[in-house]
Amino acid sequence: MHKPVLLEEVLKFAQKNRPRSVLDGTFGRGGHSRAMLEAMPQAKVYGIDQDLAAVEHAQKEFAAEITEDRFSIQHFNFHNVASLKGAPPEGFDVILLDLGVSSPQLDEAARGFSFYHDGPLDMRMDQTLKYSAADVVNTWPEVELNDLFIKLGEIRRPQRVVRAIVNDRKEKPFVTTRDLASLIERVEGWSRKGHHPATRFFLALRMAVNNELSGLESCLPDLMRALSPSGRLIIITFHSLEDRIVKYAFKEGWGLGYPLFKKVVVPTREEESANPRSRSAKLRVFQRGVNNDVRDKYADKKSGYKKPGAEEDSGD
Ligand SMILES: C[S@@+](CC[C@H](N)C(=O)[O-])C[C@H]1O[C@@H](n2cnc3c(N)ncnc32)[C@H](O)[C@@H]1O
Repeated sequence: MHKPVLLEEVLKFAQKNRPRSVLDGTFGRGGHSRAMLEAMPQAKVYGIDQDLAAVEHAQKEFAAEITEDRFSIQHFNFHNVASLKGAPPEGFDVILLDLGVSSPQLDEAARGFSFYHDGPLDMRMDQTLKYSAADVVNTWPEVELNDLFIKLGEIRRPQRVVRAIVNDRKEKPFVTTRDLASLIERVEGWSRKGHHPATRFFLALRMAVNNELSGLESCLPDLMRALSPSGRLIIITFHSLEDRIVKYAFKEGWGLGYPLFKKVVVPTREEESANPRSRSAKLRVFQRGVNNDVRDKYADKKSGYKKPGAEEDSGD
C-alpha cells in the first residue's frame, strides 16, 4: 500500500475555487486521486503515470470512475505535459505532482529500486525506457559516476566506492541490487545500525535513470502554462535539490503567476510518525494569475486604494 503524503494540505490547497479539472501527474496508487474525487464531486481527475504497473492498477481500481467519466488514466511522463492529449481546452484548475517513487515500486524486488530486496539492478519507473541502473553502473566513466554520487546523492566522498565499482566490473558486470549493495557494504562498512550506506548511492542512480532533476526543471514552465487562468500547481518534493528547483521556478514564474506562500509546508509530527516516508516531504503551491499583493501595493501608493481582505491562504 502507498499512504498519500500531506493529504489534508493537498486537499486544502486544491479545493479553492471548486476545481472542475485536476491533473494528477504522479498517479502512483491513486491515494491523492481517490481523496480528490471524494472531496471534489464536481471535478474530473486526469491521472497520468510513467509506470505501466500504476496505469494497470488505475484501470482496475478506478474502473467505476472511468465509466462515469470522472477519471481517466494515461501512461505518460509529466515532463512532456506540453504534448498531453485530451487536456481541457481552458487548462487544468489543479495540477498535482507527488514526486519520487511509490511504496509498491520500492517493495517489488523485480523493479530493482531497493537494496533490501534482491532483484535486477533496474530502477526504471517507465519500463519502456532503454537504460537501467545496471547500464549506468557498468558503463559510465569513473569521473561521471563520482560526479553523479556527489551531486544527486549528496555523498561527500564516493571515490572509494566508485573505484571499487570500476575495478569489479572489469571482472563481472553488476547485475543485481545485491551485487551493488554488497560492494558498498564491503567498502564503506556497515554494522547493521543506522542508515544503510547504499541509501544515497541508490537514490542518485534512481534519479539519473529516470532523468528526475533535469526533466522536472525543464517542464515547470509548461506545467504552469497547462493551468487554467486561476489554476494551482501543487508540488511535493522529497529531495533538497528538487525543492530548490521548484522554489526558484515558482519565484521566477515567467509572468504566469506566483508562489502562493514563501514558507514551505512540511508534514506534522503525527504524520511523520504514522508515515516515515513523509519525513523529507516539502509542499509548495504556484498560483496562476496576477499577484494581488503586488497589484494592491501599487494601487495603495497611487490612489490610497485599500486592499481588500488578505487571501485565505496567503499567510501559510
Ligand atoms: C510518490 S508516488 C505517487 C503516489 C500517489 N500520489 C499516491 O497517493 O498513490 C510517485 C509516482 O509518480 C510516478 N512518476 C514519477 N515521475 C514521473 C514522471 N516524470 N511522469 C509520470 N509519472 C511519474 C512514479 O512512477 C510513481 O508511481
